[in-house]
Amino acid sequence: NMSTPAPISAEEQEELREAFAKIDMDNNGFICKNELHELFKAANLPLPGYRIREMVQELMKTSEQLTFDQFAEVSPTMIVQGLKSTEVANTFRKAINKKEGINAIAGTSEQSGTQHSYSEEEKVAFVNWVNMALEKDPDCKHLLPMDPSSNQLFTAVGDGILLCKMINLSVPDTIDERTINKKKLTPFTIQENLNLALNSASAIGCHVVNIGAVDLKEGRQHLVLGLLWQVIKIGLFADIEITRNEALMALLQDGESLEDLMKLSPEELLLRWANYHLAEAGCPKINNFSSDIKNSQAYYSLLNQVAPKGDEDGVPAIPIDMTGLREKEDLKRAECMLEQADRLGCRQFVTATDVVRGNPKLNLAYVANLFNKYPALKKPENQDIDWSSIEGETREERTFRNWMNSLGVNPRVNHLYVDIDDAMVIFQLYEKIKVPVDWERVNKPPYSRLGGNMKKLENCNYAVELGKKEAKFSLVGIAGQDLNSGNRKLTLALLWQLMRRYTLNILEDLGDGQKVTDDTIVSWVNQTLSEAGKPTISSFKDGSISNSMPVLNLIDAIQPGSIRYDLLKMEDLTEEEKLNNAKYAISMARKIGARVYALPEDLVEVKPKMVMTVFACLMARGMKKV
Ligand SMILES: *[C@@H]1O[C@H](CO)[C@@H](O)[C@H](O)[C@H]1NC(C)=O
Ligand SMILES: *[C@@H]1O[C@H](CO)[C@@H](O)[C@H](O)[C@H]1NC(C)=O
Ligand SMILES: *[C@@H]1O[C@H](CO)[C@@H](O)[C@H](O)[C@H]1NC(C)=O
Repeated sequence: NMSTPAPISAEEQEELREAFAKIDMDNNGFICKNELHELFKAANLPLPGYRIREMVQELMKTSEQLTFDQFAEVSPTMIVQGLKSTEVANTFRKAINKKEGINAIAGTSEQSGTQHSYSEEEKVAFVNWVNMALEKDPDCKHLLPMDPSSNQLFTAVGDGILLCKMINLSVPDTIDERTINKKKLTPFTIQENLNLALNSASAIGCHVVNIGAVDLKEGRQHLVLGLLWQVIKIGLFADIEITRNEALMALLQDGESLEDLMKLSPEELLLRWANYHLAEAGCPKINNFSSDIKNSQAYYSLLNQVAPKGDEDGVPAIPIDMTGLREKEDLKRAECMLEQADRLGCRQFVTATDVVRGNPKLNLAYVANLFNKYPALKKPENQDIDWSSIEGETREERTFRNWMNSLGVNPRVNHLYVDIDDAMVIFQLYEKIKVPVDWERVNKPPYSRLGGNMKKLENCNYAVELGKKEAKFSLVGIAGQDLNSGNRKLTLALLWQLMRRYTLNILEDLGDGQKVTDDTIVSWVNQTLSEAGKPTISSFKDGSISNSMPVLNLIDAIQPGSIRYDLLKMEDLTEEEKLNNAKYAISMARKIGARVYALPEDLVEVKPKMVMTVFACLMARGMKKV
């Protein structure tokens, strides 16, 4: 049924709440009709003016002011119009960030110092986590430890170093040590660090569309916390993935195939994991890490199940003391439970209050960390498992996935093929490349068990049709069925054309709409390199790219003096030395402001597609007069 909107997820709810708090500058819990109307206009929603007026009127029927709950109702209405609730929130946020006009709406001047509200618990949790994660890092000595009860975090992120370090911990080797400016920082070198942090965050799949270096420099609290949470979460979830952790197979349930298990998001797998251990302990299952864990009973059982029992390898047992379960008050019981978690070294992210209040984000992080330290799962033996169906993700697949996630597609794509089998994400990507989608034609989730796949297939057919007719992609031999069933080669062919078009669009926008092709880019690269007295390239397949010198030379041409050639080997390179240059090149590109998604290996192996994106992003950076 087209008019039934999908339920709003907790995360979306939170985004909306943030947007609401931003409009509600005086924090009185209400927004007024004028504010909302102006905001709709500023947000440039793809809705006709009369619909906006109707909606505002409908919402404001009963009073002149709007509470959050009423505001949240706008969102489902818009989903029917084809917008995701996160998109709605982001659209609002973008409008708010435009500032001009918005101050007029809110009736406050920018200087009034009105701060956007943020979650104190989250700040405390993240500060503790960062303190621990970077405790031994000599480059963070000037920042750590931060006092969790203070606002130090928001100034500490200002020089970019802390974020670079956290990103590199979540996805090791994302940032080349040599590219971080560490000493005698100036506004310029700080800006470079922040570019490096933001572009690297985007490359690992953080949604950073509405955050800029200024927001970090000024320590905009909710934006800092939002970004930090994304970075931390990517690190926490990195191994909650069956191809990286085969023991997760123990979570297979009767009648399930491995593929079914692979489809689960990290959040769902964690819940599955907790329930697996709860079942082993003979305890009732839980449905979420919020209301269902408030009384600490499930947590106690979980700790008891995963705690080391002592084994022949000499790992000592850590028996969990369960007496705290008898505490009458939830808060005291939670505190006792956390003391036991502490003995496992797993008292992270939550306080007793966060447990009792059931804060979903922090409890999810608490459980994820527990899982990472004590999965207590054994890969089941002698089972007929078809391993061929669970190949790990290729580099190319990961790059596509990070690219789309960084654009904020909803739902977040955890598994490239299964998560886009209804084409919802593809439609959003079409919109990013300015291909209009007729949302009336799109079947929206949730899909029924019976006939649901038919609806998805219809979407996929429409997605292919749009690609052929509107985007003018070359999709010979690709049918909706191929997207729906996750045909790797053909799905990748479409995704590549989307990413390529997205990249070229950026260049065209910068060049006042002039058409850009591969040749345009190579010519520009050649010209820029020649002017700097450096060797040119013949194409994106040029073997010289393997040692990254063309990329490094181009960066140095765009920003003279930025490349430290003394750190590089330029002739007779081993594979390792090539990779070393490539890591430096990719980080340097990001540092001078190019949003590069490609990986160092793509340069070493001269993968023409990814090489093209690297040069295109650098060209975009070179064309911007900074
Ligand atoms: C990033 O991680 C890699 C691998 O763990 C490490 O070698 C490198 O020094 C780290 N870089 C930074 C900037 O911390
Ligand atoms: C969590 O699950 C329980 C049922 O087990 C449900 O009653 C409760 O509403 C859920 N809480 C949230 C916040 O979704
Ligand atoms: C770039 O320079 C090479 C020479 O190194 C030349 O062969 C090639 O045609 C040039 N390409 C373009 C598009 O200008």
